[in-house]
Amino acid sequence: MRTTRVRSVALAAATALLLGGLAAAPAATADSGKKPGASATLHDLARAQGRYFGSAVDNPELDDTPYADLLGTEFGQTTPGNGMKWYATEPQRGVFDFTAGDEIVDYARANGLKVRGHTLLWHSQLPDWLTSGTWSADELRSILKNHITTEVKHYRGKVFAWDVANEIMNEDGTYRENIFYKTLGPGYVADALRWARAADPKVKLYLNDYNVEGTGAKSDAYYTLIKQLKADRVPIDGFGMQAHLALQYGFPQQMRQNIKRFAGLGVDVAITELDIRMLLPADATELAQQADWYGQVTDACLAVKRCVGITLWGYSDRHSWIPAVFDGEGAALPWDENLQHKPAYDAIRKALTD
Ligand code: XIL
Repeated sequence: MRTTRVRSVALAAATALLLGGLAAAPAATADSGKKPGASATLHDLARAQGRYFGSAVDNPELDDTPYADLLGTEFGQTTPGNGMKWYATEPQRGVFDFTAGDEIVDYARANGLKVRGHTLLWHSQLPDWLTSGTWSADELRSILKNHITTEVKHYRGKVFAWDVANEIMNEDGTYRENIFYKTLGPGYVADALRWARAADPKVKLYLNDYNVEGTGAKSDAYYTLIKQLKADRVPIDGFGMQAHLALQYGFPQQMRQNIKRFAGLGVDVAITELDIRMLLPADATELAQQADWYGQVTDACLAVKRCVGITLWGYSDRHSWIPAVFDGEGAALPWDENLQHKPAYDAIRKALTD
């Protein structure tokens, strides 16, 4: 059994120590409506501002007990790194397996974390049976509808939001030619949102992508699409900015204004997969710049009321997707391989406190 969160116990103990035998006063947690104290976690600080602070987790990482324990105490939200993707949840046509996703939901429940569902539809990590098949539009529509309906119903009441469609746009703002677009045309996005809504009337429905944190053709395309979906009364509740940033490409232009304009459409915005990578080996200058960026992202979210929370894509360099995917890059997260704070941690804390 993994340990459950010990935050309030620790806070109470710390308070008792500080008071040194004086009459016990309630710990200053967000729950008490007071300013969180020095021992407050990132999530405590975010919660005091009406936001959540979370981290993704991949199933094997739950077996790393110190890692899982810190995740359970420091954060208020998690997202399965892989466990709810199509390859994992429908490995054969019509045969569903929710083992991996359920494991994370159970862990989250035991530790008081809320869960974002990720993701119902994506061009990547699809099962072979789906990508190798030849489907008529009718067949693929019914496959997609069944997948969305079954998964959303399974997690009804267990996830508060879904990345319904992930990475559906190209950099130039045209639709990505994934299997769904090629067979069904652009209307598949509205269909997917409607099917998700029918399966769970309450869950927040998001579109999610990378390179959309700043302004530009790709983020403009989402702005136009969400505006149209709203006009057509298609259910859409949020826009997810993955925020897989890299020092060598510069900070996204006008992130704060961009979040604001999406909020202006009447949707929530979430920072869904934040990490900030760099060329290895990392030096002190790069780590300082990374810290500054983490602070800037946090500030940008806090500046807009409808920016509901921030999720790191894993919280430590011990478990990160970056080195495996981006050759020679890494050191992307606020905790190092030994689960020690990096400058980025202090910068996030400062942004959440100021
Ligand atoms: C990544 C996972 O972290 C890896 O373990 C996996 O091998 C590939 O996918 N954008 C997304 C996430 O929406 O689902 C991706 O997660 C990272 C990029």
